[in-house]
Amino acid sequence: MRKKVIAGNWKMNKNPEEAKKYLEEFIPLVKDTSAEVILCAPYLDLKCMVKHTNGSNVKIGAQNMHWEETGAYTGEISGSMLKSIGVEYVIIGHSERRGYFAETDETVNKKIKAAFANELKPIVCVGETLEEREQGKTKEVITAQTRLALEGLTNEQVENTIIAYEPIWAIGTGKTATSEDANNSIKEIRDEICKIYGQMTSERVIIQYGGSVKPTNAKELFNTSDIDGALVGGASLKPEDFAGIVNY
Ligand code: 13P
Repeated sequence: MRKKVIAGNWKMNKNPEEAKKYLEEFIPLVKDTSAEVILCAPYLDLKCMVKHTNGSNVKIGAQNMHWEETGAYTGEISGSMLKSIGVEYVIIGHSERRGYFAETDETVNKKIKAAFANELKPIVCVGETLEEREQGKTKEVITAQTRLALEGLTNEQVENTIIAYEPIWAIGTGKTATSEDANNSIKEIRDEICKIYGQMTSERVIIQYGGSVKPTNAKELFNTSDIDGALVGGASLKPEDFAGIVNY
């Protein structure tokens, strides 16, 4: 049985003071869950969040990183910097980074390798646009993104990668994929991993769903064969809403 992994992606929201206040409310609400709980926050909040989650079951992640260790990359943050302050996870290849900041399958792959080199666990996002979906290309798009993201990784690294299937048309729109649709796409991703890395590895990989997950639809999504949790945007911004998803 795979564990449920439920991660919040705050995107560009909350300063360190707001983050601290959130954690004071949130940590007691999720203390009894058997799920892995992760909050991915803006860089500026991370150090204080690592400190305030110490001793709790809430883990902290970043939302991006550069693939180089150091150098002339103005405005960027490296994996070793994240590691040095106690961050454990990092989101890589979110559709907003692919869409607004020219992230490609190639940079996603480099970043995943750099994350592992720094003992960070990557949460890798894949997902189709509405146009691709309407053209019947969902499977082609998400399996290609998965294959290219994982290229050159060992089986052990693949097993330690979290994949988040986030159909772009479902992000922040209030439109959730049906649990059946999301589960099917996630099965297609798992089958692709099986083809390349074998069945044992494919059955160990955590694959989340993301896109308008709320306390009201979490249970239905999570009671499927292949959805192993969620990557949650908007509904992770309020402690009681996110706790409602974690305690589905
Ligand atoms: P919403 O939950 O706001 O739709 O965002 C999903 C997402 O992009 C998480 O990474």
